[in-house]
Formats: sequence, C-alpha cells, structure tokens
Amino acid sequence: MKRSVTLSVNGATRTAEVEPRALLVHVLRDELHLTGTHIGCDTSQCGACTVLIDGRAVKSCTVLAAQAEGQAITTIEGLAPRDGLHPLQQAFWEKHGLQCGFCTPGVILTAVDLLASNSDPSEVEIRHAIEGNYCRCTGYQNIVAAIQAAAATLRGASAARAAS
Ligand code: FES
Ligand code: FES
Repeated sequence: MKRSVTLSVNGATRTAEVEPRALLVHVLRDELHLTGTHIGCDTSQCGACTVLIDGRAVKSCTVLAAQAEGQAITTIEGLAPRDGLHPLQQAFWEKHGLQCGFCTPGVILTAVDLLASNSDPSEVEIRHAIEGNYCRCTGYQNIVAAIQAAAATLRGASAARAAS
C-alpha cells in the first residue's frame, strides 16, 4: 500500500505516493525525475547515488524515502547557483575531473560535505573522503586536483567576504 511522503529537495517541497519500502534514490529518480542521482550498484558501495541530507553526504540507496522526511535534501541539480556553476563543478570542468561523468554527481556532493568541514584538505584527506565513491574512468588524480582547486577558490571567496 502506498503512502504519501513529503520531501524538501533542492529548496522545494515535493510530495510523492510511494511504497513504505521505497528507497530515496528511487523516489528522486523515478518520482521526482532528478536523474542526476545515479545508481551504479546494488550493494551500497559505488557512491553514484550520493546526495546531501542536512548537508552530509549520504548514499541515497541506503535510506528509505520516508526516513528523509523533514530533512533538507540536495541533489546535483540543486547545487549550482542560478547563473553559473558551483566552484566544485567549475573545478571539475577545468581540471578534467571527469570522463564519462557517471560518478561525478556523487563525488562532487561528497566533496561539498568534505569542504564544509575542512576548507584546506590534504590529498590524503581528499582520497579518504571520496573512498566510498568509485570512479572507473579517471584514476582519481584529476578528481583530487579538482577538489583542491575548488577548495582554494572557496577559501579565496571566504577571505574576500571577510575583508569586505
Ligand atoms: S547505487 Fe551504488 S552506493 Fe548507491
Ligand atoms: S568519470 Fe566515469 S566513472 Fe568516474
């Protein structure tokens, strides 16, 4: 029997009729048509389904949609400002941090979580943070470079705000 779930997704309130067992990733993709959240495995390992829930990176295949009610969900579609790219998206573009792009939404959202708590992560810290996000294309080196570049951009923006 289906029940109504009300989710806050990318700043908007969205409602869907789903089975109680429905996973968040399936509701995002199939009911809300936010297909930037990918499914790359059925073992909760690949990280392609990562979203932010109240600012923390979470594999959305590990969460029931009903469990996410009342929390703020951000998918890759909600990350960029209206008029451009998020600094992480820009850095992935500039540093060639992606090839096929399948893993990229999950990696970027994991990096958002990392940079929120660590504005200047080392390479080791970045690699540790993204260890739950599999990439079969890049070899990770350019992903690390992109996250480092975005961190520098965000630190610069923060310093500029503090000085103004
Ligand atoms: S789809 Fe692979 S971890 Fe969620
Ligand atoms: S860019 Fe293809 S899986 Fe990461």
